[in-house]
Amino acid sequence: MTIVYDEAAQTFHLQSRSSSYIMQLIKSKYLAHVHWGGKVRGTSPGQLLAIRRRCSFSPSTDPSDLTLSLDTLPQELPGFGGSDFRVPAYQVQLENGTTVSELVYETHRIYAGKPALDSLPSTYAMEAGEAESLEIVLCDSLIGLKAVLTYTIFRELDAVARSVRYVNESGRKMKLLRALSMGIDFPHDDFDMLQLSGTWARERHIERRPLVSGGSVIESRRGASSHSLNPFLALLSKGANEEQGEAFGFSLVYSGSFTAQVEVDPYHTTRVVMGINPFDFCWLLEPGESFQTPETVLVYSSEGLGGMSRTYHKLYRTRLCRGAYRDRSRPILLNNWEATYFDFDADKIEQIAQEGKELGAELFVLDDGWFGKRDNDKSSLGDWFVDQRKLPNGLPELVERVSRLGLQFGIWFEPEMVSPESELYRTHPDWCLHVPDRRRTEARQQLVLDYSRQDVRDYMVAAITNILQSCPITYVKWDMNRNMTEVGSALLPPERQRETAHRCILGLYEVLERLTTAFPYVLFESCSGGGGRFDPGMLYYMPQTWTSDNTDAVERLKIQYGTSIVYPISAMGAHVSAVPNHQVHRTTPIEMRGHVAMSGNFGYELNPALLTEAEKAIVKQQISLYKDMRYLIQSGEFYRLRSPFQGNDTAWMFVMEDGSEALVAYYQVLSEPNAPLKKLRLNGLNPDQDYLVYDADRPEDGEELFGGDELMRVGLKLPVWKGDFRSRLYRLRRVNS
Ligand code: DGJ
Repeated sequence: MTIVYDEAAQTFHLQSRSSSYIMQLIKSKYLAHVHWGGKVRGTSPGQLLAIRRRCSFSPSTDPSDLTLSLDTLPQELPGFGGSDFRVPAYQVQLENGTTVSELVYETHRIYAGKPALDSLPSTYAMEAGEAESLEIVLCDSLIGLKAVLTYTIFRELDAVARSVRYVNESGRKMKLLRALSMGIDFPHDDFDMLQLSGTWARERHIERRPLVSGGSVIESRRGASSHSLNPFLALLSKGANEEQGEAFGFSLVYSGSFTAQVEVDPYHTTRVVMGINPFDFCWLLEPGESFQTPETVLVYSSEGLGGMSRTYHKLYRTRLCRGAYRDRSRPILLNNWEATYFDFDADKIEQIAQEGKELGAELFVLDDGWFGKRDNDKSSLGDWFVDQRKLPNGLPELVERVSRLGLQFGIWFEPEMVSPESELYRTHPDWCLHVPDRRRTEARQQLVLDYSRQDVRDYMVAAITNILQSCPITYVKWDMNRNMTEVGSALLPPERQRETAHRCILGLYEVLERLTTAFPYVLFESCSGGGGRFDPGMLYYMPQTWTSDNTDAVERLKIQYGTSIVYPISAMGAHVSAVPNHQVHRTTPIEMRGHVAMSGNFGYELNPALLTEAEKAIVKQQISLYKDMRYLIQSGEFYRLRSPFQGNDTAWMFVMEDGSEALVAYYQVLSEPNAPLKKLRLNGLNPDQDYLVYDADRPEDGEELFGGDELMRVGLKLPVWKGDFRSRLYRLRRVNS
């Protein structure tokens, strides 16, 4: 890992373990992008960067050199108005109304370590030697705008973290109409684009398509990263698959509305820009003020999508997630939501917890309905005091009863919301997002609190602190069940109204920082109607996320497979629920439900008292097996083997970083008549070493010895099953060290 500036050639070379990111100053002014991809030793930038003169429709900024046109120059932070007609990364508006700007190089510095971003989540380095950073300052001296571009590379990983700080150094006000986090221009368009799309209960399905001329946009205008389109995209070389080919990943560390735009120009170059969605955004910069963008994390892999995912997993698991639980095994939880919904009292909860304890659960989570007068979702959000009708002796007594069983206690909040039917709303009707005299659109009978306001944030921190201090609670599920509408704030002046959505996200981050700092021993899990905010921004504060409200084992194969494209397994909450499944009414065997949920952060979401004795025995075994394997599942390297998007079978595997152990999960959705004999080629093993392979649920059936080369090149024989919804977990133990 090094960052080198070559004075003579005016090149910046960011060299990671096996990749290079190279930029060059053109005419000592323009910051051009030269290369991102496989590692190169030296740089002869004159040869690397190809530019040629085009027609008058791509004008030159230098009459003496008609090859130089911003419209065709590959750039790092493209602007608009001065001859680049492609999609820009930033745009400002001056007091005189004009929107033209041109940023040119001013200075740079290279230093060890990685800076934190002001008020925003980001990846980090624990020691200075793990990362190296480059700061390049671009300036438009005519209008007093500066952009400070920060790049960080990591010693162990082929990732580049990028962000920008826009600074108003003029003596006048300036508006940022567009303030994206990055731009990059590739010299060709020979890519497929991969994105993660969906909706509630169907999150992060994989979609792949070839690039075509013009723009491809993925974005959210919802005030949240959203179920619909995750703030991530990858460009893949043609034919790239899980194991081979080039993959270029772009992931935004942000939880609000975002955009990621890919534009192919007439010369078949590809521009990618990413950041806060400029739609309905505008940020006023007073003289001397600056605006920090969220971070984008760029990952390069020459080992296909699998290699890209493993880099994201490691970086996000170890250098984005924080806190006491970052490296700790996560507790197996039992959540009462699908067991009771709003209909419970202390006795019922204690009974469910007791059954859970007998089966081996470690943490009981009391979900929605314990506060205010919440018998359904029509009321009480904001009234974070216990419902004495359901829990007459208060929360401390219930926590005491559950703790006495030997279980930790966790609790649900939805702190960014208010029900119109609540004490809080009656007292503070102006504390929600709203626009004067206009309808306040309700969703799930609730409104969005205005987290841009300090008083709202302080109130909520105090309310949650009060509960968390009242009894030994070790886990919080932080839910958020609707998106922003009528985005206006009662406190912001007219010229700052379009800052509201981003200010709310900054407010959320502030609240999370305060609470996670005050309660460092509490495990926070983020949730938004399942995976409606499964993004790196939330992972910075909460190391796990409820992946989806859809707990059906078959649906979960796609959801968990898609989520694993970017996010580590330790981040994915996955629970076994009752059948028929509450979301799709499908009945799958307890074995398959367990095997799917065990490939994530494991738990149950049902009333164990309603299980048969035979099912209870299986659940007990699942829990004890998961306890034995969770270090491997939660921190091992993950390999996708068969895609649920391509057929009836799904398979993936986990390999310990030292190669000593592995776990293979194989699922067959529907039974096949007179099925062919199938083999499953494994990955990530050492071809020169031998492995004992056995059925994780039935080790007594015996083990077989195979070479790593056989398992990876010939494959593991798969069972032939009769009946739908079948699955098996295989454990592998390396015999020679
Ligand atoms: C949505 C979450 O995703 C569910 O798990 C549950 O907590 C409900 N909200 C409760 O209202």
